[in-house]
Amino acid sequence: MSAASGLEGVVVAQTTLSAINGEKGELIYAGYDIDDLARNTTFEEVAYLLWNGKLPNRGELDDLHRKLVAERALSPQLLDLIRVFPTDANPMAALRTAVSAMAFYDAEAEDNSDEANRRKAIRMTAQIPTIITAFDRLRGGKEPVEPRSDLGTAANFLYMLNGEPADELRVRTFDAALVLHAEHGMNASTFSARVTAGTLADIYSAVVSAIGTLKGASHGGANMRVMEMLVDIEKSGDEPGAWVRSALGRKERVMGFGHRVYKATDPRATVLRELADQIMKGAGETRWLDLSDQVRAAMSEEMEKSGKKIYPNVDFFSASVYTTLGIKTDLFTPIFAMARVTGWTAHLFEQYANNRLIRPKAEYVGPRDLKVEPVESR
Ligand SMILES: CC(C)(COP(=O)(O)OP(=O)(O)OC[C@H]1O[C@@H](n2cnc3c(N)ncnc32)[C@H](O)[C@@H]1OP(=O)(O)O)[C@@H](O)C(=O)NCCC(=O)NCCS
Repeated sequence: MSAASGLEGVVVAQTTLSAINGEKGELIYAGYDIDDLARNTTFEEVAYLLWNGKLPNRGELDDLHRKLVAERALSPQLLDLIRVFPTDANPMAALRTAVSAMAFYDAEAEDNSDEANRRKAIRMTAQIPTIITAFDRLRGGKEPVEPRSDLGTAANFLYMLNGEPADELRVRTFDAALVLHAEHGMNASTFSARVTAGTLADIYSAVVSAIGTLKGASHGGANMRVMEMLVDIEKSGDEPGAWVRSALGRKERVMGFGHRVYKATDPRATVLRELADQIMKGAGETRWLDLSDQVRAAMSEEMEKSGKKIYPNVDFFSASVYTTLGIKTDLFTPIFAMARVTGWTAHLFEQYANNRLIRPKAEYVGPRDLKVEPVESR
């Protein structure tokens, strides 16, 4: 039996949460097309859909809002801990540590029942935005802003980040970005969450595994690298096409392009391109979108020449959307986690409900029949 490189094409679980058609560039969450959801639902409605398999009615949505609001504030011990984080800490490392520490102050941390896990999923979804914004403000020498109970997740996040409410277009744009990032099948971070849960470790441990996995440049870390790339291109003064060709010539990867599953444009990138257009026109500044479009055109030309099916992914346009929203580049990946925690936890409910230890094999390619020599004679 030989190793499947990167587990490509290997099916490791059944799920009712999402399905991807990589050839057509389609994504559905629990039966609903991502385009429909991004245009017509809020992040809370999608969280409910992932956790319960159906969209909420008004009463169910209000109830979820109340539960999230009740869990938004951090425990004083957790806030004190965040206060002593180094101000130059990587925000994903700060988030990983803070979510891990949430378990210390949660009386239900070790209760693996479905009911307790559902309460903890709400707690993490409610507190991750508070953690991200508290860390960001503290590192900038400002006091954290207390959450507001009258705002949804997107509006409350922008309020806690900036200390003032955001306008409707900004809230709606950010909300749609959260919807687009909430769930994505057996991606690397979801897989690592399920592997951790498969050992019957608690849900905090599983989400911490996922946060660590999301941090990498090949996964969630790509969105901040897209922005760094755009800034680099602008600073270089190079024509974007020439910049892309020279990066490809050096065998570098152009961030925000390519996907293990999509062999067509990622449908999330299509919606994000539209959102980017709206928000940048609203802000009267379209330079990042213009530059992104030039990079996309150059990539499309180069990929056609090489015959590779490499198209923009979710991270490509989210970078300029977040920048236009005034969000610092190193917070892009924590924001991905803030949305994806709903997908992670929904997968964890599935994993715990029908658990079997996830334990693949390795193909041994090392030596055999060696004999141990005494240490002095090795
Ligand atoms: C996402 C990603 C890790 C998927 O990787 P993968 O499925 O393992 O694909 P491979 O690494 O096998 O790449 C296949 C080929 O496409 C090329 N390729 C893949 N992504 C590329 C990119 N972003 N830019 C340039 N070339 C790329 C590889 O160099 C490789 O070429 P080769 O066959 O000539 O060696 C990869 O596309 C990537 O690194 N993208 C940039 C990071 C990113 O945007 N990640 C976010 C994903 S949502």
